[in-house]
Amino acid sequence: MISAKMEKALNDQINAEAFSAYLYMSMSAYFKSCNLPGFAHWMDIQAQEEYIHSRKFYDYIIQRGGKVKLAKIDAPETEWASPLAIFEAALKHEQYITSRINSLVDLSIKEKDHAAGIFLHWFVTEQVEEEENAGGIIEQLKLIADSKSGIFMLDRELGQRLPPAAGAQAAAGA
Ligand code: FEO
Repeated sequence: MISAKMEKALNDQINAEAFSAYLYMSMSAYFKSCNLPGFAHWMDIQAQEEYIHSRKFYDYIIQRGGKVKLAKIDAPETEWASPLAIFEAALKHEQYITSRINSLVDLSIKEKDHAAGIFLHWFVTEQVEEEENAGGIIEQLKLIADSKSGIFMLDRELGQRLPPAAGAQAAAGA
């Protein structure tokens, strides 16, 4: 069984991850409107990953005998100034999610909830990767600056991103 406080905090995280999916869907739609299908594809995959993250919290609450309580999802932004501005917003959002995961780990320690602590470790590692991914693309966009051919080439590259299950298999060498 999980405590009422932990149950509430984990439910709040379902919402935060669902909002992340919404945000990246919105960023994908924006890239589609800019005729940048590769950037849009990358954001679509990111949105799929966020849905999986929210489901991991959903499944864990149920597994521990808690109650899932879904809440309203806020509307994300719909306009950005440039591809660089979008990825800077994505990185800022991931840093916010990292701070939320860290607070959940703090709560698991405070409550001596070791199972929750172990469950949350996956997210601690995932957040390192999430920040690295967004940060890496920001660096590439800064190098490209206003080069149209550079944006075109990066769009081709980001369009190769594998969906979550295939990506995990490729990383494992399967
Ligand atoms: Fe679910 Fe991008 O953190």
